[in-house]
Amino acid sequence: MNYTATEQRQLVDQSKTWLTREATIGEIEALRQALRFHEWRYSVQNDPVLSDYEYDQLYKQLEALETAHPSVITQDSPTQRVSSDLSGNFPPIRHLTPMLSLDNSYDAEDLLKFDESIKKLTGIEPSESIAYCVEPKYDGGSVALVYENDLLTRAATRGNGTEGEDITLNARTLASVPLSAPWSDANITIAEIRGEAVIRKDRFEIINKRRSESGKELFANPRNSAAGGLRMKKASDTRDRGIEIFAFQLGHAVDQDGRDVLQEINTHEQQINLLASMGFKVHDPSELVCKDIHEVIKAAQQWEKKRGEYPYEIDGLVIKVNRRDLQERCGYTSHHPRWAIAYKFKAKQATTTLERVEYQVGKVGSITPVAKVTPVSLAGVTVSSISMHNEEFILQKDLHLGDQIVIERAGDVIPYIVKALSDLRVGTETPIRFPEYCPIHPVDKIKLVRVEDEAAWRCPNCTCGIQNLQRMIFHVSKSAMDIDGFGKSIVERFYDLGWLRDIADIYNLDYDQIQELEGFGSKSVDKLRSSINQAKKNPISRLLHSLSIHHLGKRASQLIAERIDHVLDLSTWQPEQFTNIKDIGPVVARNVSDWFTQESNIDMLRRMESYGVDLHQKEADRPVELVQDAPLSGKTILFTGSLQQMTRN
Ligand code: IVH
Repeated sequence: MNYTATEQRQLVDQSKTWLTREATIGEIEALRQALRFHEWRYSVQNDPVLSDYEYDQLYKQLEALETAHPSVITQDSPTQRVSSDLSGNFPPIRHLTPMLSLDNSYDAEDLLKFDESIKKLTGIEPSESIAYCVEPKYDGGSVALVYENDLLTRAATRGNGTEGEDITLNARTLASVPLSAPWSDANITIAEIRGEAVIRKDRFEIINKRRSESGKELFANPRNSAAGGLRMKKASDTRDRGIEIFAFQLGHAVDQDGRDVLQEINTHEQQINLLASMGFKVHDPSELVCKDIHEVIKAAQQWEKKRGEYPYEIDGLVIKVNRRDLQERCGYTSHHPRWAIAYKFKAKQATTTLERVEYQVGKVGSITPVAKVTPVSLAGVTVSSISMHNEEFILQKDLHLGDQIVIERAGDVIPYIVKALSDLRVGTETPIRFPEYCPIHPVDKIKLVRVEDEAAWRCPNCTCGIQNLQRMIFHVSKSAMDIDGFGKSIVERFYDLGWLRDIADIYNLDYDQIQELEGFGSKSVDKLRSSINQAKKNPISRLLHSLSIHHLGKRASQLIAERIDHVLDLSTWQPEQFTNIKDIGPVVARNVSDWFTQESNIDMLRRMESYGVDLHQKEADRPVELVQDAPLSGKTILFTGSLQQMTRN
């Protein structure tokens, strides 16, 4: 199978249309073709265009159309494929009961529908509550472990659901798989346990670091590494992957006469407790049960937030009816149990189009390229702008205008561009050319400069209004002067009104004028005035840091401030005086010294002083070390542990 770039582009465009409006029955064959294409991109090319979530959305549409019109189902429809991980390298093993898949849900509405369907299937009144278990949906490789007479006898991968691959020797190397367990105490002679092989995220990082150090190819993610790790030719290689197995289901349990003992375990919660007592690793039974679907929804929302902190990769949750008798009443389809459903977390990846590039100028003049993309929903928010950091990033990723790009939210927060789908280019895309001149005032033709070793291009025109605006935003921020109630939007508003041109103006505001503005009352104006007055008394180390002198961080500001009586003393300092201070390097020395030679900066500081900002060193801020003969002078004190009332910082 091979696709031209144009065909691929059409298939992607068409797929995206179906993500915004549903496919019709007349489009069913086109939908199948699109799904086949995405299967090919995912599993043959190893380079998916759609996120799993988007693929699932299309797959569900096909399934729904085929359910409504069964006569149109074809043998080669993607829905007729039984998903399989069989490779032929390991002898097949037949599972004692089929390993089914799960139906999917994506939001609270889907969960409410699931609850409704359970009540219909079990004949329970809509007003009554059904208790559910909520477990992480581990993203690894599934396994079935068989115990006979208390001994582990077989381990298999899921395979095609009916037959898996025999990985007994490999599974025996895993510490989380008990080689024997006291099943006989529970009157169970043969037990089949279902679980998922996973690798802790931090462990995965270490494994990859080691591989990189020894020049080996890196693993893409913990999931592939765990699933692949189960099927190593050498069992010791499986052991070294750091795989753990979470047990999440007792699939089969019979006593010595072959009688089904599963029936006697009344709830899923009890099943999990039994697995724990047999020595398996399970999800904490104490946080398993939700008394009704509303609690499930709440738990799902909480999980979605803390997902990044969870030590294992999970792609969602699994919601299971707790009562065994109700599970029985619900029954199974050939694909999944009707009493359980996967709740898939919102996609972390999506595909969109890079439409244009905007350039932003920062407080020290660095130019940041920002990709403007066709708005797309990603992990619950709509993304339309993504930082591309610097020119190097654009070149490394070979990004073109008009490209289809894959985007992701790193750590579930900041969106970033993973890659361009260069093989989907149709010829109209154009390489992104980083501007030569400052893009904020193109007519002025200010040539951008780039300091050696720095990734960013900078505009040397430091009187540019936008740079001043960025500096004022930083100046009032928490990490600089910390002016409470004076946020970015207020700075921008006052700047647009012409009230703020540089930092000094912050201390010369006309509060009567502010009170006239919509959204301000006498209370908020008083609060603002008091925060600004408070900031006037800040230590001069804070003040130095808040001036946005390139590379001058908090610590260097502190070291310099300790050695002066007044901020303007620095206007007579030579660069060597800065470098004489331990830990101040030549770059910071040059930048601070240059800053203090500029007349406009000195003028700004003088105006600040005339508005009441204290530029003097305060005795209380002078470090103990420099007070002569103080008991601790010259000593370095290290403390470990944590403080109860403040951070170590
Ligand atoms: S229950 C009969 N629980 O998800 C019940 N599955 O998409 C079927 N999975 O193949 C499975 N975590 O490998 C269940 N807590 C969990 C799970 C889980 C991960 C995997 C499992 C299954 C796949 C279904």
